[in-house]
Amino acid sequence: MVIFPTEKPQTAGPKKPMTCITRMTTAGHRHPVAVPQGRTRGTHPRTCLQCAHRSIRNTPMAAAVVGMLTALIAMLACAAQAAGLPSASQLGQQTGAAPQTVLVYEPHLTRDGEQVEVAYVGFPAVAVLEHLSGKDWRNRGDTVVFRALDGYVAHIPADRFLQDSAYLVFARQDNTPFAVDNIRQNQVDVPLGPWYLVWDNITNPALLAEGARNWPYQVAEIDHITLSNTALVPQGLDARFHEAVTLVRTHCLTCHKVNGFGGVKFEGNLAKIAKQTDETDFLRLLLTPAATRPGATMPALPDHLPESERHRIARIMFEYLQTVPTVPVVP
Ligand code: HEC
Repeated sequence: MVIFPTEKPQTAGPKKPMTCITRMTTAGHRHPVAVPQGRTRGTHPRTCLQCAHRSIRNTPMAAAVVGMLTALIAMLACAAQAAGLPSASQLGQQTGAAPQTVLVYEPHLTRDGEQVEVAYVGFPAVAVLEHLSGKDWRNRGDTVVFRALDGYVAHIPADRFLQDSAYLVFARQDNTPFAVDNIRQNQVDVPLGPWYLVWDNITNPALLAEGARNWPYQVAEIDHITLSNTALVPQGLDARFHEAVTLVRTHCLTCHKVNGFGGVKFEGNLAKIAKQTDETDFLRLLLTPAATRPGATMPALPDHLPESERHRIARIMFEYLQTVPTVPVVP
């Protein structure tokens, strides 16, 4: 990967009208991308999480309410410490650091193993964490949480930031709109700002194989927590479900919640939904969301896995979600 200081500090700049990013990113690149049938335009859903973000910024009362909720959720996680992210220019001023250009293979644009290089502009994630949470950020929890405006929540092990190079980026280097197509989610022109977490995957096959799993976009807030598994693995849960717990955490809980733990891109408790859903329908949704719901933005279970493995995974997830007792969660 090439990292070099950009000549002048860059900011996201005035918003340009959105055009099809696919055409731009693939111009001169390796594969022309046709917009598939049924593909929806990128959306920017407003969720109550975003209201919470606004409230945190705007009113002390709302901040207190959000604080109480955070405290309730602390039965799942301890040592919660939220930090709203400053703008790129504020961050540059506060840290005195110039933004860097970061070249990555953009996992949201990967199709049939073809990689598309994109150059972004941003700051090393560790420097941002140190600035926001102090030099001892690593001691604040075993997990760094990235909350996005669209309700997506990424839980990333803190040690990953010490092993691999991550960057929080805020613009494209060529000043084209800061947006991307999310091929697996059937969305085009998805806005990436205010912040997007990217990884130096060009020389790192292990990172490349992970795809877009730890690449949250629209990031507005960072937290440090230590995860406790009690909501997902209540006492007495049969050990044969442990694999399913890990799979559900990896593949589902960035967007959904189980017993209050996870993202809020789609509201509801998966443990409850599964108990009200027929197994065949549930499996069909996980394996081919778009066939089940036209225009679905939910990604299918990874299609690089053999079909029998995708079915096995879907089945054990369903069985686990049917079995795990639902815990009432304070809204
Ligand atoms: C990137 C976000 C995302 C991920 C990851 C995700 N989903 Fe979804 N899910 C959605 C969205 C959004 C919907 C609503 C339908 C749509 O737009 O696709 C949904 C709908 C559902 C529904 C239907 C709920 C209802 O009440 O109708 C179920 C069940 C479900 N998801 C289960 C899962 C499971 C199990 C996983 C993990 C294998 C998963 N989802 C992974 C975003 C996601």
